[in-house]
Amino acid sequence: MIEQQTIDRINDAARIEEVVSDYVSLRRRGVNLVGLCPFHNEKTPSFTVSPAKGIFKCFGCGKGGNAIHFIMEHEQLSYVEALKQLARKYHIEVIEKELTPEEQALKNDRESMLLVNDFAQKYFINILHNHIDGKAVGLSYFRERGFRDDIIRKFQLGYCLDEKDTFTKDAIKNGYKKEFLVKTGLTFEGENNYVADRFRGRVIFPIHSLSGKVLAFGGRILKKDDKLAKYINSPESEIYHKSNELYGIFFAKQAIVRHDRCYLVEGYTDVISMHQSGIENVVASSGTSLTPGQIRLIHRFTENVTIIYDGDPAGIKASLRGIDLLLEEGMNIRVILLPDGDDPDSFARKHNASDFVKFVNENSADFIRFKTNLLLDDAGKDPIKRAGLIQDIVRSIAIIPNQIIQAEYVKECSTLLEVSEQILYHEIAKIKNKRLTVKLKRHKKTKSKESELPKTQGENLTVPVKEKFADEEEHLIRLLMKYGTHTLYESIDENGENQSKVSVADYVLYELENDQIVLQNPIYEKIRQEYKKVYQEDGFNAESYFIQHPDVDISRVSVDLLTEKYTLSKIHNKYQKPKTDAERLDELAPRFILEYKLALIMDSRNEKMQEMKAAFDADDSIKMETISTDIEKIDYLKQILSKELDRVLNIL
Ligand code: CTP
Ligand code: MN
Repeated sequence: MIEQQTIDRINDAARIEEVVSDYVSLRRRGVNLVGLCPFHNEKTPSFTVSPAKGIFKCFGCGKGGNAIHFIMEHEQLSYVEALKQLARKYHIEVIEKELTPEEQALKNDRESMLLVNDFAQKYFINILHNHIDGKAVGLSYFRERGFRDDIIRKFQLGYCLDEKDTFTKDAIKNGYKKEFLVKTGLTFEGENNYVADRFRGRVIFPIHSLSGKVLAFGGRILKKDDKLAKYINSPESEIYHKSNELYGIFFAKQAIVRHDRCYLVEGYTDVISMHQSGIENVVASSGTSLTPGQIRLIHRFTENVTIIYDGDPAGIKASLRGIDLLLEEGMNIRVILLPDGDDPDSFARKHNASDFVKFVNENSADFIRFKTNLLLDDAGKDPIKRAGLIQDIVRSIAIIPNQIIQAEYVKECSTLLEVSEQILYHEIAKIKNKRLTVKLKRHKKTKSKESELPKTQGENLTVPVKEKFADEEEHLIRLLMKYGTHTLYESIDENGENQSKVSVADYVLYELENDQIVLQNPIYEKIRQEYKKVYQEDGFNAESYFIQHPDVDISRVSVDLLTEKYTLSKIHNKYQKPKTDAERLDELAPRFILEYKLALIMDSRNEKMQEMKAAFDADDSIKMETISTDIEKIDYLKQILSKELDRVLNIL
């Protein structure tokens, strides 16, 4: 944890134009600077830097943020890593925050485990390159496999001697505690002080975190032996959650961003061989099917994934379901099938690097097309199998979030499967409706007071995805950010004395609080909560406070709210100079509050109408009675609010 004061000092020192200029050449345009966006390809500059606000924003690809975000995005670093990099640039000493005893204990454990792993990694490397057995057994194994020395060094490969507990003893001799050797799994512990090296007699593949720390190891036996597992891996631990890690991500992340694509393979050796062939944007799921955590990890860097399969149809079919997860995340997926049962590693050994690259570039197929053809081959002319196959393909198409892409697939699969597009759409609609019902049920269970999503009908393909009240909430939060501290009006107490100023924030926050409204968007809600706590402090400036906020989500949202080319609303009047937003806060503040409340009320009215329909279907007249009283109340409220809104819009 870095102390807040240090973060503040870094924020103050890191001038956005200086930070960006290290990577992008900028020229002045008005109060801003512009340049070619480093995050997407463009020929005319839409990448804008505002020194006054301390932020960058690309109006082409939408990326935006403060200096820290820029470094995070450009260097693919975490928040803390980016802070540290900026601290180095500006010669600021980084002071870490004091933790609670529990936090400290957990952190100590984690750090001790990482330290042990770091020692082990160096130890195994040293054995591989310098120990007589390491060289004769381990190093020669890698060389026989065709791994170049620079690649062996790059991936920090090692060897663990084939002796019961030499490593464990050496580690303890070097001051590492047995507790952490056991927790990391480097050492087995049995009864009566029995200890043994987990990886004895195996070559070692360290598994790195995104930032390059060694989280775990994989160890491979050298000779074929049916009694022993080919690989053993470090166990799950405080620092290693297998399902959230990908082998090779540390070495791949920059190349993934550069090529805007990630290759996905099965094993350690596939990743390494592909690097050796010059393809560096590659990661492995390490033999298991892809998990949502791993998908999110890839998604941080790209939306485009190419899966490289070895040509074993059974294995491929087993993995198809997992790929639906990728589709659901909105990823674009291509597939490469290697010939003759080769995996990327063996294929790389049979071909030179440029042939490999060429093969990869020329042989990728779109996933859904690939899946369709694969299953079609299987089903042959069997009508029942074909029907099942259509279901299967449609299920994959139905989860693609982008409707345009979805329509393209429908068209194409209709040709491949010899089924009309209409039938495919009908099947998709059925699947979507089913999913929606499942979602609704879950929704109801968890949030009892929450209202229902509108029902979609048979053929209606558009499931509402936009969050409810998104616009209304955005208006309010933007108002708070830009004009929260402006005075809305002056109030006088009953005796006509004691004038006091009521700010926009006073008004908006009170109105929300008074009706116990919680914003639906969780980030907006966080902002509201925090705003309430700090806005009365001296010198509070909402814009910079939230843009520089340590919670990256909050800061991103703030940047977006504050940079969109947007005025809150326009009035056209021939006779008057149009007023600026700041000049009509007395209109905007009540208007946004009223619009939001009206939206909330209309929503609960809809909910009541649904209940009414259900009560009607159930022939429950007593219930219908209560519901209709509720609806009357709602309508009354609605009338009041609408009148109020009319007044605000017309008279003011
Ligand atoms: N794997 C594992 N445990 C096993 C077998 C496999 O953890 N007993 C994981 C490893 O991450 C391995 C991946 O699954 O890299 C793919 O397995 P496989 O294709 O059998 O291994 P390769 O990586 O191809 O290794 P090699 O070429 O050395 O046989
Ligand atoms: Mn292999």
